[in-house]
Amino acid sequence: MANDGNYIVYHGLLCPKETHSFESFKYAEEIKVEDEDIFIVTYPKSGTTWMQEIVPLVLNGGDLTPVQTIPNWDRVPWLEETRAALVLDRLPSPRAMVSHMPYHLMPPSFFPSKAKVIYVTRNPKDVMVSSFHFHKMASFLDDPGTFDEFLNKFLSGQVLFGKWTDHVKSWRNSDLGDRILYITYEEMVKDLRGVLERLSRFLGRDPSEETLDRVANHCCFSNMKLNAMSNYSLVPQEIMDSSKSTFLRKGVAGDWKNHFSPEQDFKFTAVLKEEMNGTNIKFPWDE
Ligand code: A3P
Repeated sequence: MANDGNYIVYHGLLCPKETHSFESFKYAEEIKVEDEDIFIVTYPKSGTTWMQEIVPLVLNGGDLTPVQTIPNWDRVPWLEETRAALVLDRLPSPRAMVSHMPYHLMPPSFFPSKAKVIYVTRNPKDVMVSSFHFHKMASFLDDPGTFDEFLNKFLSGQVLFGKWTDHVKSWRNSDLGDRILYITYEEMVKDLRGVLERLSRFLGRDPSEETLDRVANHCCFSNMKLNAMSNYSLVPQEIMDSSKSTFLRKGVAGDWKNHFSPEQDFKFTAVLKEEMNGTNIKFPWDE
């Protein structure tokens, strides 16, 4: 591990110092994963906050109290962040937590456990756009530079948690069988109700139609944007400057079309295609 300005480098991956430390990674490595644990795993800006809202509601039968009273980072904490040591042990079972870790860096006790994983993937072009705006508003991250400069950093993996393709391939090639559920951000945008049904089955819950409606309604973009426990408005302005961009920014699929030039699109597509070549992984945005 090494220090690099705003970041620490963990196994070659950039992580913000504001929220991560050598101790927090050690804590994550040594955690005793329980069979009932549920991990929401994402590459940054793929819908983590959205799942931090959805999963507690699916687990508790649609009781809105936790999502209206507990900030998302304590409700569904990050495995590898510094707050984990303070809050993880106090979570009720089944514990739900989030992680940006690639598969091979999960805690050793995760692999032989029966813990489940919800892996959310998002169109990498939209991930990059979301991340670009996030870097502009978060004072603890390096300035992204121009859009073109940031695109090059993204493609070369000089961004938080490394290359998108490495992250996605690590989880898509994992041999977790029915312990892992793959969901895309795009499916959530298109049919949140359907995703909630799949998620409920995966987590062994059988919610009523009324509960599904209530959860879907609460978790829509416009409602989540108003929830102070989830929209990051509790974070001081000097750390996240909402006058530059809001954390819940647009919440759509395909915003990349408003940002990429045809040349940037061509280059991005070519690099991703090359790196995903031979994987047999198909995404809705590839069709
Ligand atoms: P945009 O910047 O494109 O709006 P993460 O939580 O992994 O950091 O991802 C953040 C992205 O998820 C942001 O994307 C944010 O707006 C989007 N998001 C969060 N909640 C959402 C919701 N309820 N509906 C749609 N998008 C949501």
